[in-house]
Amino acid sequence: MDAVGTGMTAASAPGKVILMGEHAVVFGRPAIALAIDLRLRCSVRPSSSPTLNGQPMDDRAGPYLSTVLREHHTGGPLAIEITSDLPAGSGLGSSAAVTVAALGALSASRDGIDQEDIARKAFDIESTVQGRASPIDTSISSHGGGIFISSKETDGLLWEISRDTRRWFVHECRTPQMTLVVGFTGNKAPTGPLVAKVRRYAERSGFARDIIDEIGALTQEGRARLDAGDVEALGRLLTKNHNLLAILGVSTPALQKLVDAALPYSYGAKLTGAGGGGSMLALTDRPEKVAEAIKARGGTPFIVRTGAEGVRAEQGTDRRSGPIEHHIREK
Ligand code: PMV
Repeated sequence: MDAVGTGMTAASAPGKVILMGEHAVVFGRPAIALAIDLRLRCSVRPSSSPTLNGQPMDDRAGPYLSTVLREHHTGGPLAIEITSDLPAGSGLGSSAAVTVAALGALSASRDGIDQEDIARKAFDIESTVQGRASPIDTSISSHGGGIFISSKETDGLLWEISRDTRRWFVHECRTPQMTLVVGFTGNKAPTGPLVAKVRRYAERSGFARDIIDEIGALTQEGRARLDAGDVEALGRLLTKNHNLLAILGVSTPALQKLVDAALPYSYGAKLTGAGGGGSMLALTDRPEKVAEAIKARGGTPFIVRTGAEGVRAEQGTDRRSGPIEHHIREK
């Protein structure tokens, strides 16, 4: 969307939580991700020299934005503005959101925003930057709402993405409007070593492989409970999913403390994403109470709503003060 007469185009993209199935998804089991109402906005306009939030671009762009520009921008210098509601480094998908929103802002000036096209390009970029990414974060940030990702096609296929021998089917996952409280532990462990730790465990232990199968079955059931809008049953599945992740060795005392603090006021609670730090989430109809309990245990709570729209064109972005490097360097 070209802000009249300025040549400026802008787009925004949501952050995400992984509701169920993290880690097991690496072994071909399904996962569910939901878009949340914390967004990242990006605007671009032609300029005499490249800038990011009013400062010379130099090395400030971070790997995701630089790769987007290198691979998807052929014109002259751009003035780019990025603002974000997403807490940096908390595992809520800010690197995917910056990639998706920047691709959205660039394509809004050309042919309009196509969610599938952006999901594919954004996955290529995350793969370039991270090595072995899965398309969960980029697909949910592009599509919004909820997605069910699996190695087999089921109902509601949105798109199929493959890379070397790996193949993912990304499906629509119908989701009621829900309130979640995310509790950030304050430290984000990088995803790669945690994935490697679970892989080692699974390679040497049939017990670990059974746990992974069980997470897959719970996630499948989670999709049905979401579809039925049964939040109480869904909450119980979340807590079971957390306990299985803890057995796999990716929870930490800090995460467990926040899960335990949230549970008395929640339908269910679990770590979300890779674990080893990062964040947990709770499904609740008493968000203020849960947020208070998380804070009392040293976590940083964010009350979020599900059902957020995917990448969309915006009129423009307001520059806000404060450094944005964290948002574009996460992972
Ligand atoms: O750290 P996050 O939120 O990007 O989640 C990682 C999820 C894993 O299943 C552990 C890894 C993956 O690529 O799916």
